[in-house]
Amino acid sequence: MRKNLLLIPGLFSLFLLGSCTPESDPKVEAVKRALDVARSQLELSASEFDSLPGFPRSLMPKFKVVDPKDWTSGFYPGTLWEAYRLTGDERLRAEAGKFTARLEGIQYYKGTHDLGFMVFCSYGQQQQTLHDAHSAEVIVEASNSLISRCDPAIGVIRSWDFGEWNYPVIIDNMMNLEMLFWASKHTGDPQYRDVAVRHADITLRNHFREDASSYHVVSYNDDGTVESRGTFQGCSDTSAWARGQGWGLYGYTMCYRETGDTKYLDHARRIAAFIMNHPRTPEDLVPYWDYDAPDIPDAPRDASAAAVIASALFELSTLVPESEGKTYFDRAEAMLMSLSSDAYLAEKGTNGGFILKHSVGHLPAESEIDTPLNYADYYYLEAIQRYLSLRGLDARRL
Ligand code: GLY
Repeated sequence: MRKNLLLIPGLFSLFLLGSCTPESDPKVEAVKRALDVARSQLELSASEFDSLPGFPRSLMPKFKVVDPKDWTSGFYPGTLWEAYRLTGDERLRAEAGKFTARLEGIQYYKGTHDLGFMVFCSYGQQQQTLHDAHSAEVIVEASNSLISRCDPAIGVIRSWDFGEWNYPVIIDNMMNLEMLFWASKHTGDPQYRDVAVRHADITLRNHFREDASSYHVVSYNDDGTVESRGTFQGCSDTSAWARGQGWGLYGYTMCYRETGDTKYLDHARRIAAFIMNHPRTPEDLVPYWDYDAPDIPDAPRDASAAAVIASALFELSTLVPESEGKTYFDRAEAMLMSLSSDAYLAEKGTNGGFILKHSVGHLPAESEIDTPLNYADYYYLEAIQRYLSLRGLDARRL
């Protein structure tokens, strides 16, 4: 969720500045167009949902609108904040504030691990923009709720309260740790960070295979031993569900940024290698919804996975030596360009006001297949923000 990536190593930055002036650079032109689409789409959806309760999540083919307890509730307000910062459009700022306020009270909810997504992607973005005390209070309270889901005997935060598992933890949960690191920095109280670090360490031990691909769900026994490893949203227990690989990459990159512990960096590199070298990656680099989907090359693509991976690779590119960083940057840039092409970027006035087309939510449940998703839009704008920042460009002056 971090806004700026300010540390650009010397030679790497020279390479990034390159020979094109921004006006003559087709990649910058693509981003400029994407921001124009994003602004227009978000104004459309905000006016459509202004008088309706809830948050737009997807089109299936009709709108799926969710309440604050849904795991995706923070993404729409967060996308509005990102778009405001990128464009300076005051109307988006007003809408961002209105939609964030709809989440009021969710910080006390203890029924899910997704509080990081729900609160840090909304109030976190608001706090980053306005530096307001109220957002900070909400984030700290949500962090209290989140750590209440960690059984000290097991050492990880419980993801879900439904299902047959004894104590399920999903790879997605790595994303919720960023809020805990922030809460410790803000309050000076190490307890949030301690929970995050322990969760990351245990997940590193138990969630990953030899090739650095990840199981989706690991369930624990009450003594902390592993009860089972499998999937919920992937195509099989042993498959590599694309978005899950993205959550892991993003999560461990963020953990290295927050702790400086090189075991997280090494792990993020291994996940990046799995993703970047995968033989079933399509030419446009937007992954199939699962790297092991049986119907590849006809399997649906997942633009949300591409957006998460691209954003994570931009950050990873800043944390490693220059030549290695360039490989991550180049891949992320190529993914961003694919997402910004007509194949994935919506035409203004279509796609229900969402920015990107062609994501997959939960294919085994036959839910949200080849649809826009609010979190694809959120991580896409974050990737754009990171890209421009790495190139030393100001979105408002393109
Ligand atoms: N956190 C649920 C998902 O990625 O679909």
